[in-house]
Amino acid sequence: MAEPDRPSTARMIDYWLGGVHHHPVDVAAAGAFEGAYGPCAAIFRALRDFLGRAVATIADAGVDGFLVFGAGVPTCGNVHEVAPDATGFVPGWGRRPVGVIFLGLAAFLDDDTLARTLDELYEAVAPGSFLAIDFDSEELAAYPEALAMMGPAFRMRAPARFGPLLGRWQPTPDGIVPVARWRPAGVPAPVPDAFYGALAVKPAG
Ligand SMILES: C[S@@+](CC[C@H](N)C(=O)[O-])C[C@H]1O[C@@H](n2cnc3c(N)ncnc32)[C@H](O)[C@@H]1O
Repeated sequence: MAEPDRPSTARMIDYWLGGVHHHPVDVAAAGAFEGAYGPCAAIFRALRDFLGRAVATIADAGVDGFLVFGAGVPTCGNVHEVAPDATGFVPGWGRRPVGVIFLGLAAFLDDDTLARTLDELYEAVAPGSFLAIDFDSEELAAYPEALAMMGPAFRMRAPARFGPLLGRWQPTPDGIVPVARWRPAGVPAPVPDAFYGALAVKPAG
């Protein structure tokens, strides 16, 4: 593959997670971003760990099909690693529950597009399906230089705005909380509350 001349957020995150799927242009952009907002590596590690716990929870519920939005990069700790038995083709789309993984995306979609997309997904999937999603809080508001680097499509939201965007999807009793505090495996990682996450369901029958 030709060396890209522009950085990608997914490959920058790969760099912060310690992966191998990034290029010098991504490392340079990640370094510049960290200069403006220091705890990048820690908050993306917390987000990836949330993905791991959410996917494991979905798989434990017996779901063996996943619909993953956003790039397959960063790979390390991604869905296929957490649930290796579920990455093959499973017939019965629309009839068998699936796990919809919608992480790292909501911040790049306006409210109408996001709400409509989530509702269309709700309509399309079988009852018993799950949605794992994260939202960006207003953490970066205090770091205007970092905010400017996120580009014009980037949207921060106050936590009160997250719930209504889920529409018919019903969050589990865990709620929509900072990702490090969503069913933490031990003491939650001491990271800023930059990402909020939830697991939501389309109730079975
Ligand atoms: C922050 S990365 C997240 C990557 C990965 N899903 C994760 O959780 O680590 C954002 C991803 O969203 C994709 N993206 C951004 N805006 C999008 C849009 N409007 N439609 C589809 N994909 C979009 C980018 O290409 C990029 O792969």
